[in-house]
Amino acid sequence: MTLSEAAERNKHPILEKLRPLLRNYTAVLEIGSGTGQHAVFFASALSHLVWQPSELPDKLILLTSMCRNYPSKNLTMPLPLDIDDDRWPVVHADAVFTANTLHIIHWPQVCRLFRHVGALLPQQGLFCAYGPFNVDGRYTSASNAQFDEWLKSRDPGSGIRDKADLQSLAEKYGLSLQNDLIMPANNRLLVWRKS
Ligand SMILES: C[S@@+](CC[C@H](N)C(=O)[O-])C[C@H]1O[C@@H](n2cnc3c(N)ncnc32)[C@H](O)[C@@H]1O
Repeated sequence: MTLSEAAERNKHPILEKLRPLLRNYTAVLEIGSGTGQHAVFFASALSHLVWQPSELPDKLILLTSMCRNYPSKNLTMPLPLDIDDDRWPVVHADAVFTANTLHIIHWPQVCRLFRHVGALLPQQGLFCAYGPFNVDGRYTSASNAQFDEWLKSRDPGSGIRDKADLQSLAEKYGLSLQNDLIMPANNRLLVWRKS
């Protein structure tokens, strides 16, 4: 896996939103950490909390080497975590972060992800999901519509998710939407709190 230019671009605006949101949180589990660019950057910037990256078992090599090359005291070594596997690693986390995964994984996997996150988080725990999302069944930009077409041409089960569908799912697992933050390049940061 090569480094992600998008992750380099979006890590600063995401951090700007995460910093106040995570001020009173102690441990973040990141799902689908990819190259680890977000993990190393957020861990070094948010030194008051522990950042736990994770990835599919067969994609851990690059992520682990990124974490070894850019260590922080509060950055733990990546864990294998496959959303499809019901035996998630036992992790203490009062917040969960995921970027650009909900449009990649299939809808049954999105459902499984919310179920696990709802079970894992304590009361007041936060779930922050960054990426492109539709609103009221509509694309928020022409570029997102093109991106969705491209996603589905490669994998018909993938695609940009609608905020309302995610909201219904989240509510089923005790998570209520706290923030819908508009981000650069037609992305959003959706933030749910367990209550
Ligand atoms: C588009 S990449 C996003 C990577 C990174 N979060 C970022 O924003 O640069 C989607 C990530 O989801 C991960 N992923 C896909 N299926 C998964 C699954 N079943 N369980 C866990 N992660 C998965 C992929 O390995 C990939 O790293």
